Amino acid sequence: MAIRLGDTAPDFTAETTKGPIQFHQWMEGGWAVLFSHPKDFTPVCTTELGAVANLKGEFDKRNVKVIALSVDKVDDHKGWIKDINETQNANLDFPIIGDPERKIANLYDMIHPNALDNMTVRSVFVIGPDKKVKLTLTYPASAGRNFDELLRVIDSLQLTAQFSVATPANWKPGQDCIISPSVTDEEAKKKFPRGFKAIKPYLRVTPQPNIKV
Ligand code: BEZ
Repeated sequence: MAIRLGDTAPDFTAETTKGPIQFHQWMEGGWAVLFSHPKDFTPVCTTELGAVANLKGEFDKRNVKVIALSVDKVDDHKGWIKDINETQNANLDFPIIGDPERKIANLYDMIHPNALDNMTVRSVFVIGPDKKVKLTLTYPASAGRNFDELLRVIDSLQLTAQFSVATPANWKPGQDCIISPSVTDEEAKKKFPRGFKAIKPYLRVTPQPNIKV
């Protein structure tokens, strides 16, 4: 059964390159990104894992732990990490789950046999501190993911979890936000002391609430 937004992320135990983990316990107190790769020693995956390793500081700043999964064994992952570090100028130090029996891949519906036989597609799950799934992405094997976009949407998720706002198309941190439709104009005056502009009654914009000018 597919995992939907708002569902509790299924808990699991797994062997990883950093030792055994229990997923919920591992992510306790913060956000998590769980992302899958089709196979070890493949070119696009190598660039993706290098990219995430090089953005580790950005994930740390946002209190987000990252964990990868590929349907190979932990020992294979360990050999592959050496190649990733060498070719991507990286120092990969987050766990990669070994899932040769596809236990977690099946639990998270990461195998789409009509697209890629018996390998995981490029799935991403962003999970909040409440263990609920906040965002899912599914890319085919042929398209590497944009991890700057992942950070951008995490910024949006964390902001909108805190304030009654949404973020418009192509929003970047620091830009104006949209006031949630459930907030009345009277409430908006109190909640957003820097004011708001009603372009239409349903389209009201306000400066990003947690940024001081
Ligand atoms: C890759 O990561 O390059 C890849 C993996 C599986 C199929 C095709 C490409």
